[in-house]
Amino acid sequence: MNDIFPDVVGIDLGDRRYDILIGAGLLDSSSAFADLPKAATAVIVTNRTVAPLYAARLQQRLTATYSAVVTIELEDGEAHKDWASLNAIFDRLLGAGLDRKTVLFALGGGVVGDITGFAAASYMRGVPFVQVPTTLLAQVDSSVGGKTAINHPLGKNMIGAFYQPQRVIADLDTLDTLPDRELAAGLAEVIKYGPIADDVFLTWIEDNLDALWARDKKALAYAVKRSCEIKAWVVGQDERESGLRAILNFGHTFGHAIEAGMGYGAWLHGEGVGCGMVMAADLSCRLGLIDRAYVDRLTRLIERARLPVRGPALGADRYLEFMRVDKKAEGGEIRFVVIDQPGQASVRPAPDAVVRDVLAAHTG
Ligand code: NAD
Ligand code: GLY
Repeated sequence: MNDIFPDVVGIDLGDRRYDILIGAGLLDSSSAFADLPKAATAVIVTNRTVAPLYAARLQQRLTATYSAVVTIELEDGEAHKDWASLNAIFDRLLGAGLDRKTVLFALGGGVVGDITGFAAASYMRGVPFVQVPTTLLAQVDSSVGGKTAINHPLGKNMIGAFYQPQRVIADLDTLDTLPDRELAAGLAEVIKYGPIADDVFLTWIEDNLDALWARDKKALAYAVKRSCEIKAWVVGQDERESGLRAILNFGHTFGHAIEAGMGYGAWLHGEGVGCGMVMAADLSCRLGLIDRAYVDRLTRLIERARLPVRGPALGADRYLEFMRVDKKAEGGEIRFVVIDQPGQASVRPAPDAVVRDVLAAHTG
């Protein structure tokens, strides 16, 4: 792997297929940015933290293809994944008179990626966009698969659209500046792929966690590639989540309740997912699907990844209230991603009493 020959994972969606490029140095590689949609103007959407780190380099790459490059800096943070940020993008695009061929580049983590994708889906009924993810979480999950959204105070990612990018360009070098807490949050989504799809990968993560913490590029490249392969395999079969894709939300039903209940931004998304996976694994065990030893194994790995394994004391009623607005809920009945056996998951309802037992065991 080098900057000229990145790892490439294809995501097969017919005439909307696209590539995920993974490698060190991609922000400086002109081939990574070759053959993107032509337009007069490219727009980099980023935030105040990422802009000073990487916007100039991306801008330099883009001037080879686009005669004008505009940069929009959003406020940083999950709390700003909202209408105000979305409107700020529309204000700039319309204010500059940009047409429907304009290409948006999402430079940042999942927050920037999700907002920019939704802006691209809806500006003039759709303009092309490219994901340039700069967090581990965004490289292994949010930049891939076309889910775009903003939050609503009553629920996470409640307003959005399915809209696929033209390409994902994941430069592993950008992870060098990522704070440790954000690296851990990304590891939660990496770990997720083990229980739902690939037990061998879970063992690989257990064996390579120290290398990932040392930000070893070879280990990171494999973790990002294998995660994207699994995600591409799932999304290729069920782009709009009519079934299988829901397994990608392992740990998220509990996790989203924590995020919303604590106020967006207090817990990182990946922290909610890490703790949520412990709860969802325990639920799977209490439903008789997996044994206690597997729950303990997953809990140990999540702890080693420096993620929380106990949820806040919101109270079971409040957890249940938030979980009932989860997008997987049907007619007010909460549906959980459970592990049927190591490397295999499904979605099903669970009796409130069992969920309350899980919450009692893992919160407060
Ligand atoms: P984030 O976008 O908030 O980024 C985390 C922090 O790291 C931010 O402060 C950001 O400014 C900073 N940052 C980003 N890149 C950096 C770098 N290279 N160096 C230093 N700092 C950097 O959070 P995230 O964890 O990337 O994404 C979480 C979001 O993704 C949530 O809103 C979640 O709902 C969403 N998500 C979406 C999907 C999807 O399929 N669309 C999947 C998973 C998560
Ligand atoms: N992160 C869940 C999904 O993309 O479906």
